[in-house]
Amino acid sequence: MPDLSINFAGIKSPNPFWLASAPPTNSGYQIMKAFDAGWGGAVWKTMGVPVVNVSSRYGGVNYRDKRLVGFNNIELISDRPLADNLREIEEVKKRFPNHAVIASLMVQSRQEWHDIVRQSQDAGADGFELNFGCPHGMCERGMGSAVGQEPKILQMIVEWVMEVATKPVIVKLTPNISDITEPALAARRGGADAISLINTIQSIVGVDIDHFAPYPVVDGKGSNGGYCGPAVKPIALNMVKNCAQHPDIQLPISGIGGIETWRDAVEHILLGASSVQVCTAAMHYGFGIIREMTSGLEQYMVDKGFHTIYDFVGKALPNVLPWEQLNMKYKVTANIHAEKCIGCQLCYTACEDGAHQAIKLNADTRVPEIIEENCVGCNLCSLVCPVEECITMDRTDSGTEHLTWKERVEAGTAPTEFNDERAGGRHHWVPEPSAALGKERHKTLPGKARIYAGETEAPAEA
Ligand SMILES: Cc1cc2nc3c(=O)[nH]c(=O)nc-3n(C[C@H](O)[C@H](O)[C@H](O)COP(=O)(O)O)c2cc1C
Ligand code: SF4
Ligand code: SF4
Repeated sequence: MPDLSINFAGIKSPNPFWLASAPPTNSGYQIMKAFDAGWGGAVWKTMGVPVVNVSSRYGGVNYRDKRLVGFNNIELISDRPLADNLREIEEVKKRFPNHAVIASLMVQSRQEWHDIVRQSQDAGADGFELNFGCPHGMCERGMGSAVGQEPKILQMIVEWVMEVATKPVIVKLTPNISDITEPALAARRGGADAISLINTIQSIVGVDIDHFAPYPVVDGKGSNGGYCGPAVKPIALNMVKNCAQHPDIQLPISGIGGIETWRDAVEHILLGASSVQVCTAAMHYGFGIIREMTSGLEQYMVDKGFHTIYDFVGKALPNVLPWEQLNMKYKVTANIHAEKCIGCQLCYTACEDGAHQAIKLNADTRVPEIIEENCVGCNLCSLVCPVEECITMDRTDSGTEHLTWKERVEAGTAPTEFNDERAGGRHHWVPEPSAALGKERHKTLPGKARIYAGETEAPAEA
């Protein structure tokens, strides 16, 4: 059996799955229930200055028949008395000494930071997460993302915390910034032990088009909130990667954002995270999802021959390159597997209107055909095709050549003018504009039923 346990910057946990600081970690009741279900750790709902929340607080993006593809909130930090939270941290730690309980904190002055750090470590917290990410409400009071967006202030506060912290300190970063590595570097300069990312993304989740107010509506008005859930995973992955690849950051990363399944967690880990945190999925489906998450992760590790999480932390990083270092000689071409095709012709429409006019319809069958010489290998048809593996992207180059844009620039062979009659240099003919109007004719003509640039007639069938 693989070993799922982690030691994250000195914080030990039986598995890498932590609940993120949010409503699921609002109380000892919830955290004990979560640990009992199998979660390895929990970052307590952020504790700090007294707040008052509004009602309502959440908005969702429901995409077609899928609910909460994106989730948005205008909630603040914990509105429970600090003393209650601290007492419950103590209780949870007594019952679950081997699980990770991390105190998320957000206050203002140096003295307040010193006080709350000391109180949390006295209560038995295994570490701290400094919330420099909240994008609403708290930032207007000079906290949350207002700090996360100002590396100098962030560094100063981390230094204050390090003056008294005897347990590991994680800095939670806001994605509401153009370069996530800047606050990450500031966290490192301040002496932090680790970083976690991402917090929520500033957003308006939708507008009530009858009452002219953004969701969630509070007495006819609304406010920008924080976006999270499955929709933000690509943004989170990119930011985790940026921090993990930066040579001067070199801190353990807790990956957060859109994690709902073991696969999402593996993706965060492959890009450099060594613990993962979950909020929206636990709010949507409850703590029980941890069973599939741990068993799926375990099976993945068995399949790949990984013994510990550290066997694959950052394993995908060497394969994430700047665009200029990609092999321009590598070519793929779409291939429709007729036996799987249901004839929906979505691929035809997508390629015809949204890509490179490289799919043609057939008069006698609903299975479309790829016009190989026009296919640039963009992937669009395979992405829209509703049948798994019906369109595959097959390698069609020799497999022996390798040339990057960087190498071309360095060798002085980068093109300086558009001198290629076929767009992109990849057999790609662009039809004459007027050919767009002869739709009926195109449907009935066999073969390459289009007139291409420089021709007066449709080319003969190859
Ligand atoms: C309703 C709600 C409240 C949240 N409250 C906090 C908070 O108090 N402190 C904090 O650091 N992050 C807070 N977050 C952000 C989450 O911890 C997490 O960073 C974010 O939701 C992204 O993870 P997800 O995609 O799994 O939801 C909150 C998120 C939600 C949805
Ligand atoms: S999208 Fe897929 S299933 Fe539909 S016609 Fe194209 S190849 Fe066939
Ligand atoms: S890969 Fe792109 S260009 Fe090629 S057939 Fe599919 S959509 Fe058209």
